[in-house]
Amino acid sequence: MNAVAYHLEPSRGAAGLTIAAQPMPEPGPHQVVIRVRAAALNRRDLMLLDGSYPLPAMPGVVPLSDGVGTVIAVGHSVTRAVVGDRVTATYFPRWIDGPQRRSHVVEQYGATRHGMLATYAVLEEDSVVHVPEHLTDAEAATLTCAGVVAWAALTTPLPVLPGESVLTVGSGAVALFGVQHAKILGAEVISITSDLGKAERLSELGADAVIDRSRTPDWERAVLDHTDGHGVEHVLEAVGMATLGQSVHSAAYNARITVVGAMPAPGVPTGNPFGTSYLSIRKIAVGSRADFEAMNRSIAEHRVRPVIDRIFPFDRAERAYHHLRTGDPFGKVVIEVS
Ligand SMILES: NC(=O)c1ccc[n+]([C@@H]2O[C@H](COP(=O)([O-])OP(=O)(O)OC[C@H]3O[C@@H](n4cnc5c(N)ncnc54)[C@H](OP(=O)(O)O)[C@@H]3O)[C@@H](O)[C@H]2O)c1
Repeated sequence: MNAVAYHLEPSRGAAGLTIAAQPMPEPGPHQVVIRVRAAALNRRDLMLLDGSYPLPAMPGVVPLSDGVGTVIAVGHSVTRAVVGDRVTATYFPRWIDGPQRRSHVVEQYGATRHGMLATYAVLEEDSVVHVPEHLTDAEAATLTCAGVVAWAALTTPLPVLPGESVLTVGSGAVALFGVQHAKILGAEVISITSDLGKAERLSELGADAVIDRSRTPDWERAVLDHTDGHGVEHVLEAVGMATLGQSVHSAAYNARITVVGAMPAPGVPTGNPFGTSYLSIRKIAVGSRADFEAMNRSIAEHRVRPVIDRIFPFDRAERAYHHLRTGDPFGKVVIEVS
């Protein structure tokens, strides 16, 4: 067998992908070597090739984060896999659990570490994930990026509940996984696409309603109509800033919108105000009685005292108003009622 690996020279476009013979790698401690059986592409791999991905690719890196193979060698102290296991790897080799940190994202297979487009791949054992048995190699190779991000979008920080509504925007791989995951979670799914043929395939996949944005450009209205004016409870925004406004208008009063797509808004200079941050934005209105009582327990336990700027007598209430408007208070303006 002639072992080979592709290598990527960023910013050289299609010419940046070269192929060379690959020596059989030796696994280091806590590493495994797999014989790759299938690998899959994500949009990020196009971005890495043309140099537009936020994390620059290591020159000469073996591309692709997604792939599946059989473990053929294990390094010293490996406990998470044995020779013969069929495995894939996580996108971020260092992110095991809990909240994502910046230190997790700077290491990625196919970008800063050699990836899957090769005969052999060396994986950190902590990144190794066994794949479901019923999948073909080609199917199992697709899970790492699009499958997981759609799952995380619909199950964290809290899972979609049975009977809730989910909107998927676009019909890329993330949205398709989103439809499949959402149906398993028991949700009613509405999908947005641009094409009649894709609409049929989305329905076959399980989408309960599909809106063709080429015929219904103001699809947010159609989503509202479909949900009796309430809007959807969850949005898997798998396009990006380009459609976020419409997703917001499609969403219910207390919905959760998870932005996965990276497409910038047309005509906006920065395109994407999030930049390279993966943050959450919540819009809330005060809090419940339970929130109030929890706060009071904290205030009592820690003997917190609210900051008061000025106290006005009852018959000077209008001066309290004036002070709030013009007095640049530092703390609350209080009116004594006695
Ligand atoms: N954050 C993450 O972890 C993560 C992971 C994976 C992917 N991504 C990003 O998520 C996005 C989706 O990736 P993907 O691989 O699933 O799909 P993709 O190949 O980027 O396709 C996106 C789909 O979006 C739709 N679309 C394109 N332009 C649109 C527009 N102006 N308005 C509405 N819909 C539009 C199209 O579907 P229709 O023709 O059906 O309308 C298209 O097939 C990409 O931006 C990708 O970079 C992010």
